[in-house]
Amino acid sequence: MKHLILGSILLAAGAAIVALAIAPDAKGGVASPADLVARGRYIVESFGCVDCHTPHVLGPNGPEPDRTRHLSGHPADMQLPPAPALPPGPWIASIAASMTAWSGPWGTSFTANLTPDVETGLGAWTPEDFIATLKTGRHMGRGREILPPMPITMIRNMTEDDMRAMFAYLRSLPAVKNRVPDPLPPVEAR
Ligand code: HEC
Repeated sequence: MKHLILGSILLAAGAAIVALAIAPDAKGGVASPADLVARGRYIVESFGCVDCHTPHVLGPNGPEPDRTRHLSGHPADMQLPPAPALPPGPWIASIAASMTAWSGPWGTSFTANLTPDVETGLGAWTPEDFIATLKTGRHMGRGREILPPMPITMIRNMTEDDMRAMFAYLRSLPAVKNRVPDPLPPVEAR
């Protein structure tokens, strides 16, 4: 009996040490790949990424993200009329019911495919490309400027570790082939 109790105490202590060893560590300690993905999922799910980057459909309780197209961006096959011209005044933006197409003074922007599809998503990106994008607000840190409503001003404040965790989670998703359209010029410029 004594042996059994001692054994379980040792086992518990061992488990605690293992847990400590693999816990994500803000000071740059080692997090296991599974922990990184779990943290990334937690951030992506609670930072609004899903709200904009997953097409919404009407469910029993109103619009909800279509998890079969999780984080795959504005659906390429969605037929949309041109965004409406709004009357002068304080109302400046329109949003498609999918939550993936947004029109305002910057033009019409379509949320990006964040799944690991190589041709239409982030499949060819490195973690460094992802971090550079979120820090600079430019495509892969060197391309065109990313338009609203992508909340770069907020997201760029995240730590690189958290950005890396998000990328690890995005990498773990099923790849969805969906080529998101390029942005369109502002309504008044057409
Ligand atoms: C309010 C809506 C919104 C939220 C919230 C949002 N995004 Fe975006 N995101 C967009 C839009 C719109 C674009 C495309 C802008 C463009 O085409 O210039 C975009 C673009 C991107 C891009 C650039 C892709 C490329 O090819 O350059 C990345 C990466 C990205 N988002 C990641 C994220 C992550 C990660 C989160 C959560 C932490 C997030 N976004 C939250 C709307 C949003």
